[in-house]
Amino acid sequence: MNNALIKVISSGKYIPKDVITNQDLEKVVDTNHEWIVSRTGIVERHKVKDELTSDMGYLAAMDAIHKANHDINTIDLIIVASITGDQLTPSTANLVQKKLGITHDCMSFDINAACTGFVYGLDVAAQMLQSKRYRSALIIGAERLTTVTDYTDRNTCILFGDGAGALIVKPSDDPKDQAFFYNAAKADELDSLTVKKHIKMDGRKVFLFAVDIMQKSIEKVLNDANLTIDDIDMIIPHQANIRIIQAVSKGMNIPIEKFLVNIESYGNTSAASIPITLDDYFLNGNYENKKIILVGFGGGFTWGSALLSV
Ligand code: ACO
Repeated sequence: MNNALIKVISSGKYIPKDVITNQDLEKVVDTNHEWIVSRTGIVERHKVKDELTSDMGYLAAMDAIHKANHDINTIDLIIVASITGDQLTPSTANLVQKKLGITHDCMSFDINAACTGFVYGLDVAAQMLQSKRYRSALIIGAERLTTVTDYTDRNTCILFGDGAGALIVKPSDDPKDQAFFYNAAKADELDSLTVKKHIKMDGRKVFLFAVDIMQKSIEKVLNDANLTIDDIDMIIPHQANIRIIQAVSKGMNIPIEKFLVNIESYGNTSAASIPITLDDYFLNGNYENKKIILVGFGGGFTWGSALLSV
């Protein structure tokens, strides 16, 4: 099924306090503020001091729980999307569950789909909630990419930052809460974006792929929902490069104002970027009865989109 009835309850985020500015990067690699801003849109990104990925995920979750005064006893599904989890096992979701003090039955597990991880996680959660076996789900994207960034490589070190975003959703019976999902991957570009010790990528290849697949992903959920772009209030794209978002806007003839952009403040936070941006959207004002599209892409390549009624 590519759709599900889910109600979005609340969002949250956690952004580490320490900042890496473009001027800081000028001191470690041959680059400059003007190049970084004009080629990526990034002005600064945040960096963990001693927070683990599970700490950030927990703090983003608590922010979402507090904002809606959500009953923690109803959370029985936790999914963490990350490529920089604390360890291989137990999962970062298990660690978040522990930090939240959830001792009742709760399924918790991680998803690795690179920067698309949060959209994948939301799709999985929606299908599980649709079964009515779960009362509410916490979907988290959390990354400490600065720990896998090579600060001698100017092609990559300017891009990445740390942070976490969270979303609480629950099942719904109301037809107006219909959500649509599209997620996929192709495994013939495995070397174009990898993280072993450090992030390595073919930036140009990723760029071209991203512009193309984001357009297809937006179109796919619009078609499935039988809607046009005029029905959509806001697009929340993965924040990888402002020029990728501008190219999608131009390619689809969608006003750039319909894309929420915060890359200047956070850089690319991989799986955390969409839920952080979503939280910024919800904080920015009235979001009752709105239709939004989340759209992302990442290593694999993976990609996906979600059309939500919020
Ligand atoms: N400062 C100054 N010059 C630089 C820098 C830098 N930081 N980095 C590269 N350059 C130079 C290059 O060496 C090159 O010089 P040359 O022409 O003498 O060889 C020149 O700038 C142009 O380099 P390009 O790579 O062609 O620059 P481009 O405009 O493509 O921008 C960028 C590079 C920003 C990496 C872009 O390709 C991009 O954003 N790609 C997408 C990356 C992305 O989204 N990655 C994340 C995916 S999500 C995930 O799963 C983690």
